[in-house]
Amino acid sequence: MTGLRTDQVSAGRSFADGGADPVLVLGGGLIGLAIAHQLARRGESVQVLSRRRNEAAGFVAAGMLAPHAEGLEGAMLALGQRSLALLPQWVGQIEADSGLPCGLLRSGIVVPFATSAEREAYPTAALGEPLDRAELEAEIPGIGAGFGCGLLFAQDGQIDNRRQLMRALERACVERGVAFAEGTEVLELLSDSERVLRGVRLIGADGLVRSLPCRRAVLACGAWSASLLPGLPVVPIKGQMLSLQGPRRALRRVLFGPGTYLVPREDGLLVVGATSEPEAGFATGLTPRGQQQLEAGLTALLPEAASWPPMERWWGFRPGTPDRAPLLGPSPINGLWLATGHYRNGVLLAAITSHWLAALMGSQRGGAELGERSRSGGLTAADAALLASFHWDRFASPAEIAQGSTRHT
Ligand code: GLY
Repeated sequence: MTGLRTDQVSAGRSFADGGADPVLVLGGGLIGLAIAHQLARRGESVQVLSRRRNEAAGFVAAGMLAPHAEGLEGAMLALGQRSLALLPQWVGQIEADSGLPCGLLRSGIVVPFATSAEREAYPTAALGEPLDRAELEAEIPGIGAGFGCGLLFAQDGQIDNRRQLMRALERACVERGVAFAEGTEVLELLSDSERVLRGVRLIGADGLVRSLPCRRAVLACGAWSASLLPGLPVVPIKGQMLSLQGPRRALRRVLFGPGTYLVPREDGLLVVGATSEPEAGFATGLTPRGQQQLEAGLTALLPEAASWPPMERWWGFRPGTPDRAPLLGPSPINGLWLATGHYRNGVLLAAITSHWLAALMGSQRGGAELGERSRSGGLTAADAALLASFHWDRFASPAEIAQGSTRHT
């Protein structure tokens, strides 16, 4: 490899200050920051490279913590439950390091149904508490007349990702010494003929193209992840949202309806989500159709809320994979790790993703060759078994993903 210069990528603390074998986090969204924070807590020197952090799905999502209410199944349900169990401890670390609240609320989530037959067919029906119409009205005062019964998932909840968690995590990272290089676009990954990571080529906020050596990096670019590994099966799934200002405590529970959900924050803000538009690709902006869909869903779920004043309307891009499950763990390039493809569950899964990735990357400290053991190094046997369901190689061969995606040095 030629022409490597580390001295110029120095928005924030430079690696020169931070000890040997630093880690690059590619992507400054929720997943990237969560991993950076956990790595820094383990004493690693970490730098986050991000292009435009304000596009991150972590700023867009509604923050539902809903493995049961969203009806996840199989390994995805197990992963969601594992992360849900870890969340209080994870949030506690962020709040302790940042001194800021994250807005975690064990509010419970209600899923309404038109008929009891629909309710019984729900994948996680056995894990919720059945509600008849009267009980549904008691849980969700003012619920639309079209819903005859429901399921209460008291174990699920929400977190105020957009206004609190993201800001607290930024603060926690800074307090733990993570360096940031916002406005930096990674152009390509640099690897040697043995497919070992050697660095990245990037363009900085100053417009200069340069190379930065590294032996460990994590790809956490969300919907944009395939731009660095073109064979990676990650595509954008656009979602539009809106928020309304309602009376405080008009709604205690999150309401997860068909096609639309309502997430009440403690201050009365009601977040309404979300469209799902795979055909939109990376098309930016609101559409009348998308906003009408949200408003129709809102009216059906909670008619009185249709008159509450709208506060914000926004959109973003979920990172989707063919099986709607994330890509976690090693990649076809030794030293490059994957933490992407979280689709509808990035907020829920940030806790377990960051816990696992920090352990895995920590076990490769010193640039150790990635052997079978370090594919799951530092994880319990149960976690390693669960992680195996989310390896990238369930989709493609190393050649398909690595070919043409990295420059050999
Ligand atoms: N988890 C909800 C959504 O992605 O819309």
